Amino acid sequence: MIVKEKYFQIVDEILSQDFNGKIAIDATVGNGHDTLKLLNTVGEEGFVYGFDIQEKAINNAKNLIGDKYKNYKLFLKSHDEIDIIDNCDLVIYNLGYMPGSSKEITTIASTTVKSMDKATKILNKGGIMIVVSYVGHKNSFEERKAVEEFLKSLNQKFYKVEKREFLNQINNPPIVYLIEKKV
Ligand SMILES: C[S@@+](CC[C@H](N)C(=O)[O-])C[C@H]1O[C@@H](n2cnc3c(N)ncnc32)[C@H](O)[C@@H]1O
Repeated sequence: MIVKEKYFQIVDEILSQDFNGKIAIDATVGNGHDTLKLLNTVGEEGFVYGFDIQEKAINNAKNLIGDKYKNYKLFLKSHDEIDIIDNCDLVIYNLGYMPGSSKEITTIASTTVKSMDKATKILNKGGIMIVVSYVGHKNSFEERKAVEEFLKSLNQKFYKVEKREFLNQINNPPIVYLIEKKV
């Protein structure tokens, strides 16, 4: 499949690159689907950290992941504390609210951008950051605008920044932003 029509197809293509043994961060754990994907991506020699502000998210993710993996740690903390990790190779943000839970608890512009700013600094050279942005829920347009402004401000000498949109889809499809720290 060359042209994608679902955001996760873009994410999966990135994660199919060789990240074996690397350090990954799921900045928005939610139900844990991305955390589990990251665990499979980095393999047994890698490590995955996760952040979420909802206890329910941390519990759901642990249930989803099960006993098979030991190489991960989930923090019940806001991702604007992401710099408690000092370096990483892969970061994913799946913005918005937790599917199946309260739509009132969402990521918000100020903490998202603060976190991304820190994430770009702890990202190792050659590292990748993936940001999936949805709109429609509370504060979402403001958040996307802030995310875009931040990403546009990244120095092109040090970062490549790409924006992937599904131009002919109805109902506000997500946008995927891809960031690579240059070697
Ligand atoms: C769209 S969901 C993530 C979906 C998830 N990655 C999955 O695979 O199911 C967004 C998550 O971000 C969390 N969140 C909101 N604000 C946050 C913050 N400041 N720091 C970390 N997580 C946050 C929400 O609690 C919610 O679980």
